[in-house]
Amino acid sequence: MIIAYTVKEVREQVKAWRKEGLTVGLVPTMGYLHEGHASLMRKAVEQNDRVVTSVFLNPTQFGPTEDLESYPRDFDQDCRLCESIGVSMVFHPEPEEMYAPDFCTWVNMDVLTGTLCGKSRPTHFRGVCTVVSKLFNIVTPDRAYFGQKDAQQLAVIRRMVRDLNMDIEIVGCPIVREADGLAKSSRNTYLNKEERKAALILSQSIALGQQMVQDGEKSAAAVKAAMTEKINSEPLARIDYVEIVDGLSMQPVETIKEPTLAAIAVYIGKTRLIDNFII
Ligand code: PAF
Repeated sequence: MIIAYTVKEVREQVKAWRKEGLTVGLVPTMGYLHEGHASLMRKAVEQNDRVVTSVFLNPTQFGPTEDLESYPRDFDQDCRLCESIGVSMVFHPEPEEMYAPDFCTWVNMDVLTGTLCGKSRPTHFRGVCTVVSKLFNIVTPDRAYFGQKDAQQLAVIRRMVRDLNMDIEIVGCPIVREADGLAKSSRNTYLNKEERKAALILSQSIALGQQMVQDGEKSAAAVKAAMTEKINSEPLARIDYVEIVDGLSMQPVETIKEPTLAAIAVYIGKTRLIDNFII
């Protein structure tokens, strides 16, 4: 497995693969890889001749008071996982390689980024869209893989690719959960024992909402109220948002119909976790 640190190395390698007529998949990550990332990489290996996984803790998608400094890292372990799955190249640039000191070009999106995580983290999606565009330009993949856990991110990237005519297939992959239901996340590592137990309230409220919809509930307000009440029953939980939105525009809906996204962000202690389900 190749480990590349520069844009030039990646470009040269991808060019060589293209000359051989090989297809290329990209799995963008911020590292500290877990089973959720592994599922994206397995899918990418299945569907492409070569797979590039980027491991880049992108500073521009973190707000000034967020967890950029404390974000967990273990590059050696990440490489072992990538290699065991059959990834061809890991791209691990330094921030200086990705952002020149006078960098000033951003990819900004309206509408879809004004709700949910975009409301609580106003500069987040500008950083995500910009870095993902850069990775697309560097790797020029045929397909790129993103998890459904970050449902708004997936919708934003699909829209960016459509709006900017990027010739890349975006593949969304299902949420991977721990045995007890908690959605896998690099941030789960911040939780102490008591918080880890309390964090189950997220998947429990998701299961409750999902059940209500399955049983025929069509009122977004009713589902939202029940999920909110469930989360509030956990003393360590503090709601950032519980929202029922249109699955494409990310705008709140009154009536549940396809495609609708029910999404939550909840602080357990200081750790902000997200979860969702799609109708
Ligand atoms: O989902 C993530 O890990 C990040 O937002 C991404 C897509 C790798 C961009 O930095």
